[in-house]
Amino acid sequence: MEELRVGVVGAGGMGSRHARNLVFRGPGTRVVAVADADVARARALAAECGAARVYEDGRQLVEDPEVDAVVVASPDPTHAGYVLACLEAGKPVFCEKPLATRADEAGAIVQREVALGRRLVQVGFQRRYDPEFRALRRALSDGAVGRPVLYRAWHRNVRAAFAPDTSMAVLVNAAIHDLDEIRWLSGQEVDVVHSVVGCRVDPSLAEGVYDLQLIQLGLRDGALALVELNLSAAYGYEVGIEVSGDRGTVTAGLPGGVVTRAEGRCTRAVPPDWLERFDAAYAAEVVAWVDHVRRGQPWPNAWDGYASLVVAEACAEALATGRPVRVALEATPPLYGQEDG
Ligand SMILES: NC(=O)c1ccc[n+]([C@@H]2O[C@H](COP(=O)([O-])OP(=O)(O)OC[C@H]3O[C@@H](n4cnc5c(N)ncnc54)[C@H](O)[C@@H]3O)[C@@H](O)[C@H]2O)c1
Repeated sequence: MEELRVGVVGAGGMGSRHARNLVFRGPGTRVVAVADADVARARALAAECGAARVYEDGRQLVEDPEVDAVVVASPDPTHAGYVLACLEAGKPVFCEKPLATRADEAGAIVQREVALGRRLVQVGFQRRYDPEFRALRRALSDGAVGRPVLYRAWHRNVRAAFAPDTSMAVLVNAAIHDLDEIRWLSGQEVDVVHSVVGCRVDPSLAEGVYDLQLIQLGLRDGALALVELNLSAAYGYEVGIEVSGDRGTVTAGLPGGVVTRAEGRCTRAVPPDWLERFDAAYAAEVVAWVDHVRRGQPWPNAWDGYASLVVAEACAEALATGRPVRVALEATPPLYGQEDG
């Protein structure tokens, strides 16, 4: 098997995590190049990974003939441009979520892949690689709770990882994980956004920017979903879901791990952030990506990145208008098919 030479664009928290996972846990891969707008950061990560090539401009990295495949972990608004550049160069790309910041940009990526007739894009929805979420997915497909009728998800951060300037940015940067999770776990597309309501928890945010949002969805098979997204929960980072079926419920994401009983209390730790909570999932998704690159079957794919953004835009409209919004999603192109990773 030939070695896969990977270039990493964006040497911050996620780019560094992916690069280290590729170096230390990715068999048959080498990180050969790093790009970052802050070139000192790129240099530091390149030195750590043994990468000889450093760029300030990610497009130069994409065009480098020594780079076979690319990881994009730069800020959200840069994703679509870098992914399209990878498609132009015919290179596989692992793109952090969101695939783009607007559905039409993501749609252009889907169209380009369909025109190429092959899939080159994987999106960093790492919950699909989390052992606990995967066990819940298996329980659902084994019929453990019967027919799912309600998905009740929660997603809480200590505080926002960036200062969102619109509620749309909150949806596209954070709720996008929950929207993808519900599509994946249910195997359904969202049919309607019944309502989105918001509340500003962090007073430093501009008025009208809601870091707490409650999202109610209807799925195509008639099931309901409710997402609680709270970027300013203060106490820790928690992500979970309870799925109710017509014969029982199944839950993932309750506090786990070591239980301490002391001073009249019984406690479990809550992780401080996503890097700790999803450590195993981040490793599993890039290891799987390397395998997918070899087989030409990236998962989750560009369609998943696009479909989640279509729902996010419908959520933003429901929030702004106070009215239900039908989700207008075209039929899935045959290139993407029905599959599970
Ligand atoms: N999957 C997840 O759970 C998860 C978690 C956190 C962040 N993310 C996503 O990962 C991406 C990176 O987030 P992060 O937390 O690592 O941010 P970060 O700020 O730590 O790192 C981003 C890096 O990109 C660099 N950069 C800025 N503009 C650039 C450009 N035009 N070209 C190349 N590099 C550029 C910055 O200098 C910085 O080093 C974001 O898209 C974010 O939404 C995903």
